[in-house]
Amino acid sequence: MLGPAEEAAYYRVKNAVLNNEEFKEQKAYLKSGPLLTMLPIGQTCNLKCQMCPIDRNSSFACSNISLEEIKKFLPIVGQSASVALYDQGEPLTNPDYEKILDYVQECHPGIVMYTSTNGTFLNKYWRTKIVTYGYVVINISVNAGTNYTYFKIMGKDALPTVMYNVRELVRERGENELPKILLSFVLQKDNVHELPLFVSQAVDLGVDGVPIWDLIQYSPAHAQFAVTEKDLTSVYLEAKKIADKNNLPILTFADIPYFDLKYDSVCRDPWQTMRVNPSGEVRTCCYNAKSYGNVFKQSFEEIWNSPEYQELRATVNSENMLEVCKKCPRKINC
Ligand SMILES: C[S@@+](CC[C@H](N)C(=O)[O-])C[C@H]1O[C@@H](n2cnc3c(N)ncnc32)[C@H](O)[C@@H]1O
Ligand code: SF4
Repeated sequence: MLGPAEEAAYYRVKNAVLNNEEFKEQKAYLKSGPLLTMLPIGQTCNLKCQMCPIDRNSSFACSNISLEEIKKFLPIVGQSASVALYDQGEPLTNPDYEKILDYVQECHPGIVMYTSTNGTFLNKYWRTKIVTYGYVVINISVNAGTNYTYFKIMGKDALPTVMYNVRELVRERGENELPKILLSFVLQKDNVHELPLFVSQAVDLGVDGVPIWDLIQYSPAHAQFAVTEKDLTSVYLEAKKIADKNNLPILTFADIPYFDLKYDSVCRDPWQTMRVNPSGEVRTCCYNAKSYGNVFKQSFEEIWNSPEYQELRATVNSENMLEVCKKCPRKINC
């Protein structure tokens, strides 16, 4: 006889196995659900990073999702193996965030919760919570190797605090495998030269991996931050050498961004990931802005196997992919 946590884990594994089979067969109609459900959390933040996607004129800006609202989204998590509980703001500024994480673990015992934070509020209290939950992948966004560059990009002189918080989190986790701790870097003109230094610091801190993300140009003003292949080539190779020597995984959209894009490579998002915004609109990834339905107006099944979703699955890995997909750097490891 299985307890509730074991039973939930059993169905999650069963869903994951079926989802993988359906993905391998490139099925358009799915009997399995997504592996990762991404829920909105809020768009308040204590920083103003130059490349941030928050649209401060939008109706969601400076608003937070409450525990009561998250309860309305939760049924769509279903048998997902993991749930992303961060959005375009700083989750630790949401006053209900702790209650939300507690509630998600209560309803879906053992589900892996992904979060991403700027780390400035990752104090002893929060670190203890994260270590105690265990089933967490926490990304801390650093984006710099020096205080000068951190200030330039993130707008606050907070790198020493963030580095202290990360070091303590790694120490407090001790020998445990979970939570997984990642340190991320969004490539920009202002920071690209510090990539090797950033990777060395990540090695020194003992984190589990370093996501290095391509800049997404959420607004025309972001074009000025974009790096070129020339900016990146030698520093990326140097950073990779340091990471490889120390067995530190680098996680990228493509193993070598920009100059190793393979448009014939495989996209998994339409099978594995479902993103929901604060109004309930469903998106498939961070590039394709099209809404594939609304969780408050339609059932999960109506959205997940809608003609539009099925058409996306049928075309995304073919020559007939959407124009937006052709420009996506995430054709590998997405
Ligand atoms: C929008 S933030 C929200 C969560 C949290 N405040 C943080 O900074 O981690 C989520 C992730 O997106 C990254 N990010 C911000 N602007 C980006 C951009 N223009 N392109 C790609 N990633 C970006 C951040 O560095 C962070 O790792
Ligand atoms: S910390 Fe995160 S949410 Fe806040 S401004 Fe920076 S990228 Fe945006």
